[in-house]
Amino acid sequence: MTTPADITFVDVDLEAIADTSGRVAVFLGEDCALGREASRVNRVMRGALARFAASDKAAKMKQGEVISLAWPTGMAAEAVDVVRLNRRSTIEDARKAGANLGKLRGKGPLLVLAGPARHAAEIAFGIALRGYDFDARKSAPEEAPEVGGVTVMTGKPEDMTADYAPLSALVDGVFFTRDLVNEPANVLTTTEFAQRIKDMESLGLKVTVLEEADMEKLGMGSLLCVGQGSESPSKLAIMEWNGGEKDAAPFALVGKGVVFDTGGISLKPAAGMEDMTMDMGGAGVVAGVMRALALRKAKANVVGLVGLVENMPSGNATRPGDIVKSMKGDTIEVINTDAEGRLVLADVLWYAQETFQPVGMINLATLTGAMIIALGHDHAGAFSNSDELWKSFEKAAATEGEGVWRLPMGQAYDDLIKSPKADMKNVGGRAAGSITAAQFLKRFVKDDVPWMHLDIAGVATHSGAATFAPKGASGWGVLALNRLIADGYEG
Ligand code: BES
Ligand code: MN
Ligand code: ZN
Repeated sequence: MTTPADITFVDVDLEAIADTSGRVAVFLGEDCALGREASRVNRVMRGALARFAASDKAAKMKQGEVISLAWPTGMAAEAVDVVRLNRRSTIEDARKAGANLGKLRGKGPLLVLAGPARHAAEIAFGIALRGYDFDARKSAPEEAPEVGGVTVMTGKPEDMTADYAPLSALVDGVFFTRDLVNEPANVLTTTEFAQRIKDMESLGLKVTVLEEADMEKLGMGSLLCVGQGSESPSKLAIMEWNGGEKDAAPFALVGKGVVFDTGGISLKPAAGMEDMTMDMGGAGVVAGVMRALALRKAKANVVGLVGLVENMPSGNATRPGDIVKSMKGDTIEVINTDAEGRLVLADVLWYAQETFQPVGMINLATLTGAMIIALGHDHAGAFSNSDELWKSFEKAAATEGEGVWRLPMGQAYDDLIKSPKADMKNVGGRAAGSITAAQFLKRFVKDDVPWMHLDIAGVATHSGAATFAPKGASGWGVLALNRLIADGYEG
């Protein structure tokens, strides 16, 4: 697994500043004033920092912005990263400032000089989140940069260390998700995915893995028909975190875990098909959240369930026109084998409700290309039967800076998935493709269960670098879901 940066909070030591290697970050206060540590750097740099602080360029810096002064006079460091951030800046700006520092740093050593104390943990959080690089599959990293830790000089370092601990658990969860999403499908098979989940038992999670035979007994014909053309066995992995009241019903998180989506017999075009290694993104987020909850010992009962399958064409694959029977008992006409995610989720959603009677349920899935057409890569699509659940999630996501936008549902859309031959068909045509997919899922949700579907097809990965992540997997949703649980279901 990609290991997050070691972040250490230490007392301020002005004597050590000039001799430190790597990068040094200093902060400009209100009106670009230099605080005690920045003044020290300025003295060592023979006034260069003060000249910068007095410049137009500094005055025009946005909160959270960083400008680097390279190979500074008098300093052993290779750069002084000047950050515009003060006591009155927002938490978002602090986190962004950290991300900017983390991007510049790569994997080298970084010394952060104090800065606004109330933001120290958030700055560290931003540094850690952005300091991700998926290089697990690169051979002999000969020119690999020197790996160094991050040191934050601050007052009350013990308090800061305590403040940062739960954020560190989150970074770990986000990195876990990103690694899963970035892994190619020959590495992250259904078996490997289940194993990585099983390995989290050491964190105190209870893990159960249902195999094909178990799912056949349960009547999961919908989930099973997706993986039947693959050599990799389909699995349903269940992670239980019981940190809340004994025997209280849990909140359920459900994820689509298609480790590779060729489309099946309704084969996808070749161009861009390699991107379908990320089609387990929903399951990746669920696993990452469960990891974070376990690491920070959340005081809540949460169960994560992920349907792990591979959608392949073969002589044994499901054909367009096949009719399958779900665990719920409803029959489904499979018009298009590429609309497979909803077939997987249907049975996992039903199983989750039957087994755990959850107080609420959220599923995540890279479900439709239409979602990307509608909202692009900045907002996930949300669909819900509960205004209350939607509102609390909207708030949680806004707090964490993760974009989400609610779309409508309704009878007219549900009518589009009626089938003359079965209880429903698995596609509703080109119009409102993301909504008809959501309507399909809703048919497997009991009316009295507050439920939300998050279509993360657009936000799970980015083709270029984002604020908190390099190109590739983003980990979108881990922070928002953790916040939802922390604010709504703990204590
Ligand atoms: N995994 C895809 C959706 C997807 C597309 C995610 C692009 C991320 C990027 C999903 O299984 C799929 O193939 N959906 C079809 C549905 C259609 C056949 C109704 C789609 O969106 O084209
Ligand atoms: Mn598909
Ligand atoms: Zn898919």
